[in-house]
Amino acid sequence: MEVVIVPDAKAGGELIADAIGALVNRKPDALLGVATGSTPLPIYHALREKVRSGALDVSRVRICQLDEYVGLPAGHPESYRSVVLREVVGPLGLPEESFMGPDGSAEDIPAACEAYDKALAEAGGVDIQILGIGTDGHIGFNEPCSSLSSRTRIKTLTEQTRIDNARFFDGDISQVPYHVITQGIGTILEARHPILLATGEGKADAVAQTVEGPIASVVPASALQLHPHATVVVDKAAASKLKLADYFRATYATKPSWQGL
Ligand code: GLP
Repeated sequence: MEVVIVPDAKAGGELIADAIGALVNRKPDALLGVATGSTPLPIYHALREKVRSGALDVSRVRICQLDEYVGLPAGHPESYRSVVLREVVGPLGLPEESFMGPDGSAEDIPAACEAYDKALAEAGGVDIQILGIGTDGHIGFNEPCSSLSSRTRIKTLTEQTRIDNARFFDGDISQVPYHVITQGIGTILEARHPILLATGEGKADAVAQTVEGPIASVVPASALQLHPHATVVVDKAAASKLKLADYFRATYATKPSWQGL
């Protein structure tokens, strides 16, 4: 995988927004997979600026969701559907119909998961999939020991992830659902270009294990090593435990510009 070390979160957001811009210029109806959490917000901000300034036309772009809580009432402000509508779809001026995600309030969850995998395939597959990373190395909501070939399915959150995410629920862990639907690791690996952004020291261990550790389901993000075109963008703090940081810096500094991200 390619590792790009950027000075800070803003630079990471701009770099990834540039890659999305290049994709949309060559494929105006690209399917863009988005992640939630705090980390990707600088990407959405940079993308919004491109659209606002008239530098990029995203009017035909389609957006798809990575994961969702199970059991939150429809329209709950912290359901990932609400978050993506609020942070991405609305600000980019896209219609709600351009957006798809798994139905976390479905009565038949396995059927909803299967339907979502099918919908992604029928939409032609994900072009760029933006990913964050959990402190335990999860991508989407694929917690440690997720099958590396898993499809979209229900998962149970670890206590640590529920603690991490309580900040979105008034700091009250009892409001954080136990169950979620997430694209599987196998599903994520079908995206043409997964791009993981990690910022801050709290992610340094997870990043080091993802990039330089063995491929192991106990660090779900390490499955990205199996992808022929995966990019990991990290700020200095998140890169601080990478043994090969100097090599990654030199590689990117001398990268032929025609290669893009
Ligand atoms: C949640 C999401 C992940 C995200 C992670 C990290 O668990 N399901 O997609 O990567 O949070 O969030 P943050 O970027 O806020 O640290």
